[in-house]
Amino acid sequence: MAKNGVRMALFGPPGVGKGTQAALIRESAGAAHISTGDALRKAAAEGTAVGLKAKSYMDRGELVPDEIVIAIAKDILGREGRRGFILDGFPRTVVQARALDEALAQLAMPLQVVVNLQAPEEELVRRLSGRRVCVKCGENYHLESKPPTAAGACDACGGELAQRDDDKPEAIRNRLGVYREKTAPVIDYYADRSVLRNVDASGPADQVFRKIESLLGSIRG
Ligand code: AP5
Repeated sequence: MAKNGVRMALFGPPGVGKGTQAALIRESAGAAHISTGDALRKAAAEGTAVGLKAKSYMDRGELVPDEIVIAIAKDILGREGRRGFILDGFPRTVVQARALDEALAQLAMPLQVVVNLQAPEEELVRRLSGRRVCVKCGENYHLESKPPTAAGACDACGGELAQRDDDKPEAIRNRLGVYREKTAPVIDYYADRSVLRNVDASGPADQVFRKIESLLGSIRG
């Protein structure tokens, strides 16, 4: 399978496994993993003006305004996207999808595929409420499906594991509502452009990864 230079977006509701799958694909395809959520959390942790503004939206489970997210995504794409890219959590509105198309046309790097990960809502809630993240290196865990070897400590760096503010019950409910209202319409946008592929993401992470690999193989030959 010719995976080098893959140009794809991972799409789907909060907790469906976009970040988990992006990390696996990056390892095997060598493309840049571009997560607007990670970039915004980094900016917030650094205390930049943009980061602090974004944090107020993120903690409530609201979308950060389009103009902020589009500028961040374009900046990272321009710097890191040449070797191929896996977009994770971007675009999340039709306005963002249009801006992405324009930016990629200018870079002569059109999207090859948008992988739409799907899982039942009760599974999303289970995944989000059980997620724990290393405060030092950002590694992701799940209390049931991917527990750390020692409770509360990161296997990779020994850092403390914490729950994201937006993984608390009220923020989770809000994020799922925002997804249905503002993000789900992006599915039609990509279906109309014939780049959308649905993948059942309800099973274990390695099984989902194999489905995505086989899909990429069929697309890229
Ligand atoms: P972001 O960080 O992108 O959050 P999200 O899209 O809500 O996605 P998550 O990171 O919560 O879930 P995921 O699908 O990546 O799942 P993961 O692999 O971690 O965005 C956060 C916020 O930033 C947004 O709410 C918004 O405010 C802002 N933002 C970001 N981008 C934006 C944009 N474009 N526009 C506007 N605002 C934006 O997995 C979740 C858990 O499940 C983990 O514990 C994992 O170990 C476990 N897991 C994963 N796969 C499986 C599996 N197959 N089986 C069992 N467990 C699994």
